[in-house]
Amino acid sequence: MPSLCVVGMQWGDEGKGKLIDYLAAQADVVARYAGGANAGHTVVVNGQKTVLHLLPSGILHKDCLCVVGNGVVVDPGEILEEIALVESHGATVGENLLISDRAQVVMPYHKVLDKVAEAAKGAGKLGTTLRGIGPCYADKASRTGIRMVDLVRPDAFRARLEETLPFVNRLLEQVYGHEALAFDAILAEYTGYGDRLRRFVGDSVTALHRAFGAGKKVLFEGAQGSMLDIDFGTYPFLTSSNASVCGVPAGTGVPPRLVGSVLGVVKAYTTRVGAGPFPTEIHGELGDRIRENGGEFGATTGRPRRCGWLDAVALRYALAINGTDHLAITKLDVLDDQPTLKVCTAYRHGDRVYDTFPSDLAVLGDCEPQYEELAGWQRDITGAQGIEDLPAPALAYLNRIEELLGVPIGIVSVGNERRQTILVESDGLFR
Ligand code: GDP
Ligand code: IMO
Ligand code: MG
Repeated sequence: MPSLCVVGMQWGDEGKGKLIDYLAAQADVVARYAGGANAGHTVVVNGQKTVLHLLPSGILHKDCLCVVGNGVVVDPGEILEEIALVESHGATVGENLLISDRAQVVMPYHKVLDKVAEAAKGAGKLGTTLRGIGPCYADKASRTGIRMVDLVRPDAFRARLEETLPFVNRLLEQVYGHEALAFDAILAEYTGYGDRLRRFVGDSVTALHRAFGAGKKVLFEGAQGSMLDIDFGTYPFLTSSNASVCGVPAGTGVPPRLVGSVLGVVKAYTTRVGAGPFPTEIHGELGDRIRENGGEFGATTGRPRRCGWLDAVALRYALAINGTDHLAITKLDVLDDQPTLKVCTAYRHGDRVYDTFPSDLAVLGDCEPQYEELAGWQRDITGAQGIEDLPAPALAYLNRIEELLGVPIGIVSVGNERRQTILVESDGLFR
C-alpha cells in the first residue's frame, strides 16, 4: 500500500504541481486533500503550460485516478473551466476524476464575503486570493455549508440555499452595506453546474480505501504551504485549511497510518504572496532580480511574489510538523547568476536568539535573521540530468541544506519542465 504526500514546506508555490505531475507517472491515484481555487499548480510538458487550481496535478496522466478530497472547497464553475482547459490540452476527463460528495461548495457569496471582508480590514488586509476560501471554510465549521452531495440534487440544493441565503444577505446588507444576492440567479447557475458535475461526484472515501486495499500507489497532493496552515502557520496571515500533512486524514478519510511517506517541497529560496511576516525577505534590486529570474508572479492572481533567502528556522519547524522523509529542492536554477547565497540559521530579537520558529508575530516581524553565506556557481544548470552534472558550489549548497535541516534530498528540480527533474533517491520515496 505505498503512498506519498507531496507538501509545501514554505508559504506556497514551491513547485508542488510540477513534482506531482512528475511523480504521478508512478502513481495510480492522486488525491488533493485541502484548499480550493486559491491554489495555482503549474505543470509544463514539452513547452505546454497548464495551471491547475482544483484538479489534481495528475490529470495529464490518463491512467491516474484524480480525487478531489472531502477537505477541498470546490468552486463548481472554476472546476468546469479547468476540465475544459485540460481537455483542450489533450487530456481526457471522465472516470479518471472523482470529486468527493462530502466536499464543500464555494458559493458566489463566499467570494463576495472574501472581498468585502478584505476591504473592511483596510491596511490590515491579509491579501487573500479572493476565491472565497476563508468564508467557505467558516461556513463548513459553522455547519452552514453546502456540500457537493447537495449541489447535485436540485431539491436538496434549493432547500440548502433557502436556508443559507437569507442570513448571508442580511450580513452583506447590514454589516457590509453590500447589495443582496438574488436567489433565482444563484439557483439557476448552480443547478446547472450540479447537472454538469454530477457524473464526477461520488464517495471518494470508499474509493480511496478500495485503492489502498488493492495495493494501488497513492499520491496525496498538498496545496498552499505548511507556513500557511491554519494551525501551524503565521496566524492570521495564512489560509483557512490544514495545508500540512495534518490535513490528509481529515481531507481524504484515509487514516494517518496509511500516509506512508512525506516529500517536503522546498524552493531553493523563499517566496510569499500576500501580507504577513517574512523574516528573510529581500527588498530592492536583488529581490526584484530573483522575482524576474524565477517568474515569481502568482499562478492564481498574477500578483508579484515577495522573494527572500532560504530560511532554515522556518523550514526545520515545517519539516518537523510534517514528519518529512525527503526534501525536493526546486528552482535551484533560479539562483544560477548569484555570486553568493545566504541561508538563515537563526533569528535574533533583542537579546534573544531563536533557532525554533516563534509564534509571536511581533518577534517575526521585527527579528534580525542570522545568515550564513555560501558561494554561488554562476553557471547555467538547467540542462543537468543527474546530480553529478551540478557544479561543486551547487552541490555544496544542497549538502548544507541537508545538514541544516537533517532530512535527505530525494529530488532536485532545475527547470519548470517535467523532464528538468533529477531523481536523487530513486527508491523509497513512496512507502
Ligand atoms: P505550486 O503552487 O507549488 O505548484 O507552484 P506554482 O506552480 O505556483 O509556482 C512554481 C512556478 O515555478 C511555476 O511557474 C513552475 O512552472 C515553476 N517551476 C517549478 N519548478 C521549477 C524549477 O525547478 N525551475 C524553474 N525555473 N521553474 C520552476
Ligand atoms: P499554492 O497551492 C501561495 C495565500 C494568499 C494569502 C493567504 C490567504 O499555489 O501553493 P486565501 O485565498 O487562501 O484565503 O489567502 O494565503 N495563499 C497562497 N500563497 N500559494 C498558494 O497556493 C496560496 N493559497 C493561498 O496569497 O496570503
Ligand atoms: Mg502556486
